[in-house]
Amino acid sequence: MKQHKPMKYYFYTYGCQMNVRDSEIIATLLQDNGYEETNSPQAADLILLNTCSVRHSAENKIYGKLGEINLLKRNNPELIVALGGCMAQLLDCRQRLKKIGVDVLFGTHNLHEVPYLVSKARETGKKVWQVWDEEGMVIEEYPTNRKTGLSAFVNIMYGCNNFCSYCIVPYTRGRERSRRPENIINEIKQLAEQGCREVTLLGQNVNSYGKTNNQDKDFADLLGLVNDIDGIERIRFTTSHPQDMSDKLIEAIAVNPKVCEHVHVPLQAGSNRILQKMNRKYTREHYLELVRKMRERIPGIAITSDLIVGFPGESDEDFRDTMDMVNKVRFDAAFTFLYSPRQGTRAAELTDQIPIEVKKSRLNELMTVQYQIARDINTSLEGSIQEVFVEGPSKTNVEKLMARTRTNRIVIISAAKDLIGQIIHVRITEGKTFSLMGDVVL
Ligand code: SAH
Ligand code: SF4
Ligand code: F3S
Repeated sequence: MKQHKPMKYYFYTYGCQMNVRDSEIIATLLQDNGYEETNSPQAADLILLNTCSVRHSAENKIYGKLGEINLLKRNNPELIVALGGCMAQLLDCRQRLKKIGVDVLFGTHNLHEVPYLVSKARETGKKVWQVWDEEGMVIEEYPTNRKTGLSAFVNIMYGCNNFCSYCIVPYTRGRERSRRPENIINEIKQLAEQGCREVTLLGQNVNSYGKTNNQDKDFADLLGLVNDIDGIERIRFTTSHPQDMSDKLIEAIAVNPKVCEHVHVPLQAGSNRILQKMNRKYTREHYLELVRKMRERIPGIAITSDLIVGFPGESDEDFRDTMDMVNKVRFDAAFTFLYSPRQGTRAAELTDQIPIEVKKSRLNELMTVQYQIARDINTSLEGSIQEVFVEGPSKTNVEKLMARTRTNRIVIISAAKDLIGQIIHVRITEGKTFSLMGDVVL
């Protein structure tokens, strides 16, 4: 029989944790079909890009990368370029991608077809573009086996029904649908058997888990079920929506010992007028009350946020309201963004867009204050003892290890490599803006 050399693939993944998990699924499918991963794009027979459309800058980066890949294609005409993910779902992106050498196009709803689409492109020498514009049922036949590390992402739901007026995600990911609890639990049990110790439950809005499917288990119930799985030591989840964060959920975080004391609950803006125009469905007063309840019931909980500046019509006063909330809440960390108009969303149609210089100066002010708050909170932890999970070598200093507190803070420690995968205690020696330094406590 003729021996074929295994085809090699290289993966570029952009965007959020959903995409990281989707790329993992595609990689597993490719491996099951005889492909091997390579760590060099030059050595690849297949280059995949899993794309993000959340902001203009994300798309631009990807178009830039496609330019580079096209140069590789000149030297290697056999090279197949497959692009999928959120950009593939959008008509305006598809128009532009038509002019670029993308051989295979797949969307967010048909990941399982990737090996088939690639082999079809290879056999026919033609472009194979297949995107499902509508989400189908929740697909449970995806492989759940993966290169299990110590930590894994687990989807609990797909899509989003919130239609925040700035956001493209409901258009790229379809309507909200939840996986059955038993399928989630079985996947996590399997992960635990393979040595995984931490899971992050993923959804655009995990707090509304189960609602659209009329399931009898809500997100708080699901946390309890995951908490009972032997071998899993830490449970995280993202993202939470302030509108759906119930008292029952706060209680579940408080009483389930494996659920970590961290919530990512994006505020987006501090002005009620802007929140309303964003279709966020809560007020600053509601948010402050939520923070109060969470801090009272779960002492030491870390609260992190996403914040957008320069939403259409944002006045100086509206921006002051955002700064005021940042100073009142004192987020442990926040991702800060310049508003980016996305074609097809309601906010992109608004006429009172904010000039870029104003947006940038607001972002600068916000970042300066938020970073100072994060630094102050982190320095206040100096001398404290923290429980950390040792994840692996530090990315910035290979001599050191990277560990994470229950509150999602990175701690850089000097310790022997055999501590990787262990939960240990460290004393914090220094607090910085984005990380802590610590010593192992024996
Ligand atoms: N489902 C999550 C994440 C959505 S995307 C949530 O609801 O929080 C991640 C973040 O990107 C959002 O929280 C928002 O802050 C930001 N974002 C989304 N669309 C944006 C846009 N058009 N311009 C700037 N930031 C945006
Ligand atoms: Fe986008 Fe809002 Fe849905 Fe988050 S909740 S994905 S910001 S529409
Ligand atoms: Fe980006 Fe799609 Fe995630 S737009 S943020 S990759 S859902």
